[in-house]
Amino acid sequence: MNHPAIAEAKVAVITGGASGIGLAAAMALSKRGMRICLADLEQTALERATKLVGGDTFGAVTDVARRESVDALRDMVFERFGQVDLLLNNAGTAGGSPKTFSGPDHWDRIIGVNLWGVVHGLQSFVPRMVKQGTPGAVINTGSKQGLTNPPGNAAYNASKAAVRTITESLAHELRNIEGCKLTAHLLIPGFTYTGMVARAMPERPPAAWTPEQVVERLLESLSRGEFYVICPDNEVTTAIDHARMQWNLDDIIHNRPALSRWHPEFQDTFTRFMKA
Ligand code: NAI
Repeated sequence: MNHPAIAEAKVAVITGGASGIGLAAAMALSKRGMRICLADLEQTALERATKLVGGDTFGAVTDVARRESVDALRDMVFERFGQVDLLLNNAGTAGGSPKTFSGPDHWDRIIGVNLWGVVHGLQSFVPRMVKQGTPGAVINTGSKQGLTNPPGNAAYNASKAAVRTITESLAHELRNIEGCKLTAHLLIPGFTYTGMVARAMPERPPAAWTPEQVVERLLESLSRGEFYVICPDNEVTTAIDHARMQWNLDDIIHNRPALSRWHPEFQDTFTRFMKA
């Protein structure tokens, strides 16, 4: 059975909806008869995406890094559709790998979109969605990089680690509001061939899932009421993900050097651990 927020005539707002995972989600939800608002940066990309999605869909130029832009998006959607049942805070940006202590432009951009974008989405939409009193879902897109922190992408990893903690807190808060029918979910895609990846790789590498596979997994997980939606890809299985997460936590528990998975002295131990 579908999550109750996913049904004919219900309304989904999808940030980063003009490309990749957001666009695939819009297409899947539109097929189920939902009304859709795609929020993204550029008008032309939105027009293209709106045509692809079809149904009762409109695009709204939005910069999620700007609170007033997301507030304007909310006002536009409620004016047009009168309700919001599913919010997918999915807009994201990556690229560049300056050091933790270099900046500040790179940090401002990544944190602005990936972290503040999610916070703006929650603060603009969730109070109205709670007040609406009907079943709904809020899904934030995180990343495995926010769980295991691979070196070279500190700003991105930090933004996605924050998305995880915020979404966990949201789930706790929502289930403690009396009568609230909203659920929160953390989508963690594996390696997925989307716009973000295509800019560096013109063809889909065999390891990557398609955005449609990610969305299929998301819908399955939502129908089972799961909070964590951790997707594998064609190279990284669920078992590998579990082991990597375990190793990462064990750094703290066993007081090993930070990020020991990438520390020369721990290579053999890590390889043995993964094999086991
Ligand atoms: P994509 O590049 O195809 O889609 C991202 C969309 O977000 C783009 O349409 C972009 O214009 C939009 N966007 C960027 N900044 C924005 C802003 N300030 N306001 C509004 N829209 C903005 O990439 P993809 O992969 O579909 O990204 C979706 C989410 O999935 C992101 O949060 C990303 O971090 C996450 N993710 C992607 C993975 C992958 O392998 N592709 C893996 C893990 C997480």
